Amino acid sequence: MRPLDFLSSIKVKLGIVIVAAVAATVAVTGLGAWADIPWVVGGVLAGAISLTMVQFLARGMTSPLREMTTAAKEMAQGDYERRVTATSRDEVGELARVFNQMSAELAETDRLRRDLVANVSHELRTPISALQAVLENLVDGVEPPDPVTLRSMLEQVERLGRLANQLLDLSRLESGAVPLQTQPFEVKELVERIVREARGPGHRGPDVNFEVRISPPTLSLIADPERFHQVMTNLVANAVRHSPGGGTVEIVAAGSDGKIRFEVADEGPGIPEGERGRVFERFYRSDAARSSDGGTGLGLSIARWIVELHHGEIHAEGREPAGCRMVVELPEI
Ligand SMILES: Nc1ncnc2c1ncn2[C@@H]1O[C@H](COP(=O)(O)OP(=O)(O)O)[C@@H](O)[C@H]1O
Ligand SMILES: [Mg+2]
Repeated sequence: MRPLDFLSSIKVKLGIVIVAAVAATVAVTGLGAWADIPWVVGGVLAGAISLTMVQFLARGMTSPLREMTTAAKEMAQGDYERRVTATSRDEVGELARVFNQMSAELAETDRLRRDLVANVSHELRTPISALQAVLENLVDGVEPPDPVTLRSMLEQVERLGRLANQLLDLSRLESGAVPLQTQPFEVKELVERIVREARGPGHRGPDVNFEVRISPPTLSLIADPERFHQVMTNLVANAVRHSPGGGTVEIVAAGSDGKIRFEVADEGPGIPEGERGRVFERFYRSDAARSSDGGTGLGLSIARWIVELHHGEIHAEGREPAGCRMVVELPEI
């Protein structure tokens, strides 16, 4: 039992403990004088009673501090599971609650870090195993070094390169190492460049038609042009990759109500409703994408970081009869 837990100030608690001790001493001394007990015996008795009372009343005042010390030591060893008792309403209790919150957050960060390491290793291992298998066959003379084999090897190496670049990018974005360099620029120019690049050599996926609508046509944006280019390139590359051959990818930009809304829509299979939030997580790929394309599952998490750095918002929507629409909304600063 912690008798003074209901009090919200440690000063009041200490006050009560002192007053109780003094009262006990006075009472025992008075009684001693009345019963003619020698003052030494009375003093010792008063001291013992006061100490017992203090022990009882002060229970729970400092134990959270000791618990925190133990927990902090365990945390330093990498164990974030320990929580401290935070029933008291005073400053120590408040500290204990904040401490528990902190350890929960550290536990979550630690979990994310472990997941990241596991994911990165897994993603690295896949192309490396594929390369190793082909190289072994080449060395053993089981397979001839023909252009098809070499091309498949090149694809794995490209995938490794993309993965390394995107990981580096994500870690730079997350650590805030690269500040945004915002400046005004024309949306039309940017979109035209992206379409040119998406059609150009080296693009992955089927040939598609692009439909671009920008209203007003002179729409301009204040953002980091390179970073925003990266967002749109990612969305357009996804749309192209998920499009059926000969399909249409729509790119729409419109400014209204102090916001600029960008949409990239395709006629592919779309993203099931339950997965629409998760596709922005690192390494998240639908099962279909996981087995078939050479994606890394990092594109959309990078896009979300960049959009959020611009104080904007990004989400995925469905499309009738089928398809996916990615929406980015940025404040018009
Ligand atoms: N336009 C789209 N149509 C259908 N699914 C999509 C689309 N864009 C993204 N996705 C899904 O979201 C996942 C994550 O996308 P992304 O982060 O860009 O990774 P990657 O493109 O490297 O697979 C994709 O693997 C895919 O499952
Ligand atoms: Mg992608």
